Amino acid sequence: MTPFKTLNRRNSNSAKWESVKDKMPANDYLVFSVADSDYETAPEIKAALKARVEHGAFGYTMLDDDYYQIVQSWYQRRYQLNIKKNWIITAPKVLTALSIIIDGLSSKKAAIVIQTPVYNVFFPAIKQNGRKVVENKLTQKNGHYTMDTEDLEKHFKAGAEMLLLCSPHNPVGRIYTTDELARIVALCKQYGVTLVSDEIHADLVMPNHQFVSLGKFFNDYDNIILVSAPSKTFNLAGLQSANIVVPNNENRKKLKAYMRKRFLYAPNVLAIEAIKTAYTLCDDWVDAQNMHIYQNYQILQSFLNQYNPAITLTSLEGTYLAWIDFSCYQMKSDALNDHFMKFNVALASGINYGLHCDGYLRMNLACSKAQLEDGLRSLKKALDAL
Ligand SMILES: Cc1ncc(COP(=O)(O)O)c(C=O)c1O
Repeated sequence: MTPFKTLNRRNSNSAKWESVKDKMPANDYLVFSVADSDYETAPEIKAALKARVEHGAFGYTMLDDDYYQIVQSWYQRRYQLNIKKNWIITAPKVLTALSIIIDGLSSKKAAIVIQTPVYNVFFPAIKQNGRKVVENKLTQKNGHYTMDTEDLEKHFKAGAEMLLLCSPHNPVGRIYTTDELARIVALCKQYGVTLVSDEIHADLVMPNHQFVSLGKFFNDYDNIILVSAPSKTFNLAGLQSANIVVPNNENRKKLKAYMRKRFLYAPNVLAIEAIKTAYTLCDDWVDAQNMHIYQNYQILQSFLNQYNPAITLTSLEGTYLAWIDFSCYQMKSDALNDHFMKFNVALASGINYGLHCDGYLRMNLACSKAQLEDGLRSLKKALDAL
């Protein structure tokens, strides 16, 4: 039996399912917005959590050597990267980690570059820390996005201090090649820019693609920081835990001091158990999930091709997020999504990821095949009605 089967998440305190509930005409609505999965985590993780709950004590935590060895081994096995134990710092969430890095390592009012369209919460993560968002827009050709390094260099010349990279890139589904990343690292090194790589989607890799971690460049430039988490891969976002990898001593010292001052240490007791299990026993589950997501992507692709070839689907290399250009309908993303919701189905509005993305919507494919097909039937009805 496929492990990626339909799971009813309504009325389970799910942000994804609760946030649109009031806009939906019927109780059996479907949501493909927020980036978490609508099927169970790996059975090994569920069993480990059950056993930990059975233990019954949930007091203060302290990480043991095992934890670090397991994270190091995952980096080695999955990304062919040797990271040192003392480079690893834990954080409650990737967003917390990014916020700490921004506030702890850049000067007040610094300009920080992001490559739009990009994960919407990068904007407030920078702005809420009093820093300035600088957009280095990705270039798009035939549904394939690349970085505009000439424009990026202009921002570096103008004094930007940090580049916040999304790799793999949410929402455009890119996995950057070694050559593309090498160019970015060379530019950051030339201008002394801190390079932060949000690699939360690193394990979600489609067939014929290979994720390249920015950590591959640590020997050339150590002002690089990686942030990763098991939360997307294993559907553990609600447990809240992430890892920061910081090879530069000075950066690490500053981040640790920043976190100590705010009592940000001692991870969630269940998260520790989940990470250890995910990173030791679940490689096969991750590979099977990638195949499942790719099959869902093919179902979506064939539906869109048949329904209206003018709707453009971006090629998916990594993540479980499909980026769809609906601009042939000449409607703004929010209006189109509101229209879809009248037919009991919600996607994520493209404008959230960059002001120039109005007309796009993002669709989360981490659900069962049956749920996706139900959702596409509702989408068809909504599009028929336009
Ligand atoms: C690129 C990226 N970074 C960070 C996050 C949020 O991670 P966390 O829940 O660990 O803060 C997401 C969630 O969608 C994401 O796509």
